Amino acid sequence: MSTTLAGKIALVTGASRGIGRAIAERFAADGAVVGVHYGRNPQAADEVVAAIKAKGGDAFAVAAELTESGAAAKLFAQVDAELAKRGKKTFDILVNNAGVAPFVPFADTTEEQFDYVFNVNVKSLFFITQAAIPRLNDGGRIISTSSVVSRLPFPGVEVYSMSKPPVDNLTKALAKSLGERGITVNAVAPGVIETDMTGFVKSDEGTQQTLNMQALKQIGQAPEIADVVAFLAGPDARWITGQTIEVSGGTVITL
Ligand SMILES: NC(=O)c1ccc[n+]([C@@H]2O[C@H](COP(=O)([O-])OP(=O)(O)OC[C@H]3O[C@@H](n4cnc5c(N)ncnc54)[C@H](OP(=O)(O)O)[C@@H]3O)[C@@H](O)[C@H]2O)c1
Repeated sequence: MSTTLAGKIALVTGASRGIGRAIAERFAADGAVVGVHYGRNPQAADEVVAAIKAKGGDAFAVAAELTESGAAAKLFAQVDAELAKRGKKTFDILVNNAGVAPFVPFADTTEEQFDYVFNVNVKSLFFITQAAIPRLNDGGRIISTSSVVSRLPFPGVEVYSMSKPPVDNLTKALAKSLGERGITVNAVAPGVIETDMTGFVKSDEGTQQTLNMQALKQIGQAPEIADVVAFLAGPDARWITGQTIEVSGGTVITL
């Protein structure tokens, strides 16, 4: 067990499944107490908390449906209560990871679908970050999950492709304003990672299409991203801020 995050408290949004779960488990393995945020899936979040505790770590689940207005306030009411149980008012690491990517042809995309993607991927991320900053310790970390679609927008996920550049832009803007407090602000941009979001990689055709897009010829798994997020959260990344780091097996260089 590593101790690079010992004594740190982290909040990971969308940690009940996929990439967020891998980040939460990796942070806990590195010694952090982890807030496991979920939306609709309390059982999955409880499983993550139980898995962390079974390995000797500490974690707690917090719920907030991110399409709802006031989601950030609801989330932080629970975070504040969990911090208070541990005698704290502040924490160290925010990971904005929750996201949605419905595959809908451009011509069929409805206003409701557009709002859904922007509410989860952009608006909630903005207001969760806004609420987190006064609670973050100096020297803390903000890390967000962007995507290669910021540089490589795909047909069929136009709204999703539009929703990730704002993450990169907020990362840069906040890196400038939070530098005085020693808080670093970065993003990771995964390529295709096998999760519930990317059911297509489970078919032979989807696997082949994905491998054709990448320099490295295997299907990326959630720990591939979690390991880089753990690096950005840890002391070795202290001089990196305002960056979006692509973690994609070399997707952009091949297209
Ligand atoms: N997988 C990829 O290939 C890939 C590539 C590039 C970027 N990304 C980004 O990586 C992040 C995680 O993706 P993933 O593949 O791990 O997705 P996933 O397996 O579908 O998990 C999504 C997570 O976000 C939460 N979430 C979704 N909608 C929510 C809502 N309305 N309110 C509250 N929570 C909500 C889910 O919680 P509940 O289940 O509890 O609702 C779940 O924990 C996203 O930002 C995604 O855009 C993924």
